[in-house]
Amino acid sequence: MILREALRQAEARIAAGSIPDARLEAELLLMHALRVERAELYARLEDPLPPAAEDRFQALVDRRLRHEPAAYIRGRAWFYGIELVVDHRVLVPRAETELLVETVLGLVKERFAEGQPCTIADVGTGSGAIAVALALHLPGARIWATDVSPAALEVARVNSVRRGVQDRVELLPGDLLAPLPGTVDIIAANLPYVRDADIPGLAPEVRDYEPLSALAGGPDGLDVVRRLLAGVRDYLRPRGAVVLEIGLGQAEPAVFLAWKHLPGCAADLVRDFAGIERVLRILT
Ligand SMILES: C[S@@+](CC[C@H](N)C(=O)[O-])C[C@H]1O[C@@H](n2cnc3c(N)ncnc32)[C@H](O)[C@@H]1O
Repeated sequence: MILREALRQAEARIAAGSIPDARLEAELLLMHALRVERAELYARLEDPLPPAAEDRFQALVDRRLRHEPAAYIRGRAWFYGIELVVDHRVLVPRAETELLVETVLGLVKERFAEGQPCTIADVGTGSGAIAVALALHLPGARIWATDVSPAALEVARVNSVRRGVQDRVELLPGDLLAPLPGTVDIIAANLPYVRDADIPGLAPEVRDYEPLSALAGGPDGLDVVRRLLAGVRDYLRPRGAVVLEIGLGQAEPAVFLAWKHLPGCAADLVRDFAGIERVLRILT
């Protein structure tokens, strides 16, 4: 069978499995099976698919049809223009979280001279997506990245080493801010914020494959954020800031929590591309 036909058949199987973007999914899986980039795939569309690669390809399509996220199958995900290693130990970094990175970069630009040292905590670092992106864009920053999951920190370590920022990203196991060795200028966090009642209705890719400890935020989704905000005061330097990713409908309660625990702070919200208030910026 030639590559074009293999792609056509895989696309039809994936579409029949009600998975959107079937053509794109099929191409990504075939690229992975052949270990080639897209340009090479297109150049070889009329070539025969070697039997071993065909077996690998069918196995990958089968996994996708069982709703395993494409990022886990390929072991890679793009975040803020950076290719990260990901697997079942970590949440697949989301496009919305790029807005959090963008917000922190804007804040550093506002408050620090270029290259001026600053210290940032990335709480619940998972794959290290936020910490690595910030380290690459802020050469003067020192970053402490915490996670309660030692398995997630192993993935974050791989990513920080692959991107050459391991000297400025320190990975610390433990609960929220407790592992930090001192105070910081900015606390950034994309913590679990899915409401318990919403978990059964999540896409199977998320519900059945991503770590529950990266998703579940209690009855209103804010359990972990609430505990974080209750403790931030002791870890913030003067003129410090907290930048949090939140979910739909959580802006108002999250702002009240900020006012409660950081009296006198200024809080504003950044909307994502869907118009949802996605990032809460708290300035002291
Ligand atoms: C939504 S994921 C975000 C991962 C990554 N920051 C990103 O944006 O892709 C939340 C992460 O927080 C971690 N986490 C959950 N509870 C935590 C806690 N109490 N202290 C530290 N990390 C926690 C989870 O293990 C998970 O890696």
